[in-house]
Amino acid sequence: MKNNIYVIGSSNTDMVIKSDSIPSPGETVIGGNFYTFQGGKGANQAVAASKLGGKVTFVCRVGDDSLGKNSIRQYEAQGINTEFIGVEENEHTGVALIMVDKKGENLISVSSGANSKIKIEDVSFLENKLTNDDIVLTQLEIPTDVVKYLIDICSKKNVKLILNPAPFQRLEDKYLKKVHTITPNITETKYLTEIEVNDIDSSKLAAQKLLDKGIKNVIITMGSNGVFFMSEGQMAHIKAEKVKALDTTAAGDTFNGALATAFSFGVDLIKSIRFSNAAAAFSVTRLGAQDSIPKLNELDKKFQNYVYS
Ligand code: RIB
Repeated sequence: MKNNIYVIGSSNTDMVIKSDSIPSPGETVIGGNFYTFQGGKGANQAVAASKLGGKVTFVCRVGDDSLGKNSIRQYEAQGINTEFIGVEENEHTGVALIMVDKKGENLISVSSGANSKIKIEDVSFLENKLTNDDIVLTQLEIPTDVVKYLIDICSKKNVKLILNPAPFQRLEDKYLKKVHTITPNITETKYLTEIEVNDIDSSKLAAQKLLDKGIKNVIITMGSNGVFFMSEGQMAHIKAEKVKALDTTAAGDTFNGALATAFSFGVDLIKSIRFSNAAAAFSVTRLGAQDSIPKLNELDKKFQNYVYS
């Protein structure tokens, strides 16, 4: 049984230069090829969830420009329900300038544009629509008052909310405690807990600190060091899949979208994390954000069976 996934977040157009190295402050480097891709953490996560078999509604705001129109067309082409996407007049669609080096590492700066105009009224329809089988997935590339509102209504309606705290913005503990699943990377974990995660022991400490706040499931994504998971009475370290990285942009987004899909099929937590880990690993072998995300049939049969069975 496939339940609804609501992704609320940003939509960007990514302008990407792939080069050997990323310049230091004050330095100019002659880069390589230039690309434009569909991006934005919210949109990447919505596309990931949909490509991997989820039933997705994406809520965002785009500008009244050609980038915005094109974005909506692309989301529709991915089978995403776009009926709640707003168009902000006299505002540009979010843009991200991205540099990717030869190891696939990136550097990103975002001009939020219409993303910064998402309001509580844009998501308040969820208050009547959500049922407790639904999954809500959100991030912090939109105003935090919207995220806080989502946390409150999901908690009230007993709906599983996945919070990907990226890019990091501070939320008070009174909101964090109502989050069902949080998915910080190492940097975000440091901001959330003041603990530098560099091995299993430090991951345990940090995860415990987040559980103590009241969060039910803590999933720390550690790139090539895999994923650390902790909930009350359960703990696991899932190793990263070995792949040759071309571009790590949107690996975290792929992970989160995949997680929402697995949850929406009722897959258990550890299998959901394995599924998401595999999808994220696949995404780093291809260039771009949404373009790099695998479809369900591109994953190993073992992972496809997690959601089919
Ligand atoms: O997580 C990757 C994304 O971050 C990019 O697609 C970019 O748009 C920024 O939002």
